[in-house]
Amino acid sequence: MNITIVNFKGGVGKSMIAHQLITGFGFYGYEIDPYGSLSDRLPERVERIDIQQKYLNKPSNETIFDFGGFDDIKLDQAISYSDLIIIPFIPTLETIQGTVDTLVRVASANKPILMVPNMSQKENDISDAKFVFEETLGYEIEMFSIPMSVALQTAINENSSIVELSKQVGIKAYAYKKSSKLIYDLHATIREYENL
Ligand SMILES: Nc1ncnc2c1ncn2[C@@H]1O[C@H](COP(=O)(O)OP(=O)(O)OP(=O)(O)O)[C@@H](O)[C@H]1O
Ligand SMILES: [Mg+2]
Repeated sequence: MNITIVNFKGGVGKSMIAHQLITGFGFYGYEIDPYGSLSDRLPERVERIDIQQKYLNKPSNETIFDFGGFDDIKLDQAISYSDLIIIPFIPTLETIQGTVDTLVRVASANKPILMVPNMSQKENDISDAKFVFEETLGYEIEMFSIPMSVALQTAINENSSIVELSKQVGIKAYAYKKSSKLIYDLHATIREYENL
């Protein structure tokens, strides 16, 4: 399956999720972000797409399209190749409008959408965001929440999969267990959209 990860808002966790799906679950990546570092971190698995490029080749392996925090002409094409669109966002009142804009922009493609509230501080903010999204679209939308996690940030800094880090022995592995289970569950949720 192929997955588009998008939000025109920056710093919401798009590349973090892409990184964990690529390192933990065998996906390849297209980095459609001139400011991104995913292709530098994972050069064997992630191809950098030049900003001037107008078309994307259809990927032959399972691929994650990791967009930067802006609209791009290649977005429609990436979505057409994708089984699922993931929209990570930080659920605060100030940033919700940018996410609604992204949601409206991609919803017309009629592909399944998974919203991922990331680094949220309050449970209420997540339900408020869900309400706004569903009012905007007129139908229900699935959400998968990821809390702020030092373990996840460590995995990113070490350029490793949290799932792999949690397989180590000893006390350190214990610290990774919770976030590892979360990313494992995220992957399982994503797989429910395969071949829909
Ligand atoms: N749940 C989390 N817990 C801790 N740190 C996180 C979490 N999610 C993301 N981060 C960190 O927050 C920062 C921003 O995330 P990331 O780079 O993935 O956002 P992005 O949406 O790809 O941004 P851009 O729009 O610039 O491409 C990164 O340092 C990332 O490792
Ligand atoms: Mg990014």
